[in-house]
Amino acid sequence: MVDNFFIVRDFDWQVRRSSHLDRALNIAAKPFGMRADTAGCIDRLIRRFTGLSFAATRSGVSTNVEQRINMYHLVSQTLAYNVEGDLVEIGCNEGQSSVLIAKVLRSFHSDKKLHVYDSFEGLPATKLVDGHSYKQGDLATSEDVLRKHFNLHGLELPTIHKGWFDQTLPAGLPEKISFAYLDGDLYDSIMISLKHVYPRLSAGAVCLIDDYCDTAINPDGWNHLPGVKKACDEFLRNKPEQICYVYSGAFTHGFFRKL
Ligand SMILES: C[S@@+](CC[C@H](N)C(=O)[O-])C[C@H]1O[C@@H](n2cnc3c(N)ncnc32)[C@H](O)[C@@H]1O
Repeated sequence: MVDNFFIVRDFDWQVRRSSHLDRALNIAAKPFGMRADTAGCIDRLIRRFTGLSFAATRSGVSTNVEQRINMYHLVSQTLAYNVEGDLVEIGCNEGQSSVLIAKVLRSFHSDKKLHVYDSFEGLPATKLVDGHSYKQGDLATSEDVLRKHFNLHGLELPTIHKGWFDQTLPAGLPEKISFAYLDGDLYDSIMISLKHVYPRLSAGAVCLIDDYCDTAINPDGWNHLPGVKKACDEFLRNKPEQICYVYSGAFTHGFFRKL
């Protein structure tokens, strides 16, 4: 196994945390059920008047330390228990999390494969249910950036499936999956990911879903992509699995284990 200090050492990811101003405002706003996000407000104002965005559209910085630690343990667990199947990341962007998954995979000397999926053209059209954090085309990047990250870490490249999920997932997923990371941000993207990934998950497989936020459990959770929870709740309504919402600092995510 690999020690997990690389999580804070190897990556220069700038983690978005609440500013001191937001923390102070949040203390005052909490009794009213409100939450301050001054950077987000400024971003929305700038976007409204100029059409430009300086924060929400940035690619690459998608997870914080707590999420990476959770991911490290969840991937390790599926490998230690030898859950059948390969690993997938649906919505890989620049491959920051893919690198983490690949590092853990290598440390187990596993012959399992990692498959990653993305349009690399950014997000498809958003709907009302997706909130106001993103718009179509945000998070665009390229396969080359992802390849560069893998090369920097001396890792074997994953299998890259470029395209929209409705084109790549039906025929492009491994037959059996032991670990899935769903990070498509939007209601439709998460729903289609679940629809195709779920039947391929082996017993004991972990499905980790980024941006799943349950404000009933954590009222301070950053519920910026409400379509994610809605898609998960609707999809799992008639299934035996339930989402476990795990602590992840200023960001949010949850997972379920396939029964
Ligand atoms: C937040 S980013 C992923 C970040 C990445 N998982 C990480 O941890 O670094 C979301 C990605 O999902 C992709 N995406 C969302 N919906 C998609 C769809 N329907 N088809 C293809 N790509 C999609 C976007 O292009 C974007 O790169």
